[in-house]
Amino acid sequence: MTVSTEPGTMIFEQIATGGCQSYLLGCADTRQAALIDPEVSQVDRYLALAAQDGLTIRFLIDSHTHADHFSGTQVLAKRLHATRVMHRAAPAPGLDMRVDDGESILLGKLRLRVLHTPGHTADSMCLQVADRVFTGDTLLIGGTGRTDLPSGDPAQLHASLFGKLLKQDPALLVYPAHDYKGRSHSTLADEIATNPRLQVRALEDFVAMMRNLNLSAPTHLTEALRTNMSGGKTVAQMLAEAESQVPFMAMTELRDRLASLSPSGTAGTAGSAGSADNCGRLIVLDVRERDAYDAGHIPGAVLLPRGQLELRVNTVLPDPTARIVTCCDFGRISTLAAATLHEMGFARAVALDGGMKAWAAAGLPLELAAVG
Ligand SMILES: [Fe+2]
Repeated sequence: MTVSTEPGTMIFEQIATGGCQSYLLGCADTRQAALIDPEVSQVDRYLALAAQDGLTIRFLIDSHTHADHFSGTQVLAKRLHATRVMHRAAPAPGLDMRVDDGESILLGKLRLRVLHTPGHTADSMCLQVADRVFTGDTLLIGGTGRTDLPSGDPAQLHASLFGKLLKQDPALLVYPAHDYKGRSHSTLADEIATNPRLQVRALEDFVAMMRNLNLSAPTHLTEALRTNMSGGKTVAQMLAEAESQVPFMAMTELRDRLASLSPSGTAGTAGSAGSADNCGRLIVLDVRERDAYDAGHIPGAVLLPRGQLELRVNTVLPDPTARIVTCCDFGRISTLAAATLHEMGFARAVALDGGMKAWAAAGLPLELAAVG
């Protein structure tokens, strides 16, 4: 969408992911763009939108340290060589630019003016550009950000709202970092008039209201803080990377192959896993713990728990050309194990598409550990 503003024309995209809102805004003259509050699962979508609009993303901006979703700025910064921006108080390492109240980020002919608005978090900021203000979690449509998460402070939020944000031009369009009801934006005037939290103007009353919200912790709180503050990867990212490195074998395909390889329908035994002759052979590698393996495994499967994989791989799997299918309870640890095997040179390792829970539920053959 193209929006005419003074002094230039702004290209503007609002991207909703669940309740999270991200914004791509660009200068129509220079085609330089900034992405505000990108979410890691939508990275390819942002890049496609920027390409569609003919924009080059120069700035990746988080309005604050998110505790409820995974920032995409780190991944995007690597791919785009763009500048990662946060407020000066942000704990995240590896930022390229730290900004403070009253400063501006230049985006071609557009100016993104920083308003430091602590309260939801100490590093919260709003960004005002042309006719609109990106309010992060400081001000939501009909609400405000919570103040009970790390570095939150209800008195600071009160000061940021009543002492700063609400004193801006009431005609400014409000674009928040979240909306769970599908609304795109509002105005400062509308929020001042109708937002229930903004009707509680006295500091003590506002603080008491915020302290008594009794909200449950957001899903993935610790993981979001860990990754957003440290630059580390999410579990979903680790799994996605592993999934992109290994092929998968369907459960029925494995059942059929096992049946055709051995008259008894077994893949071999643990003792024969290292056989030099692997022509046509398939090693089913069960990476669960022994008690799970003993309770029922794919006939002939070799046990090598994930936690021992690197240390025992040379003994258990001496042939790097072996055809290996990894399996676990739900198909996630086996995917990581197959990716690790690939890294170690087992180019023919694949992961079972599914896990032993699904295998058993489908009534596929199981073997119990020999007693005694
Ligand atoms: Fe937030």
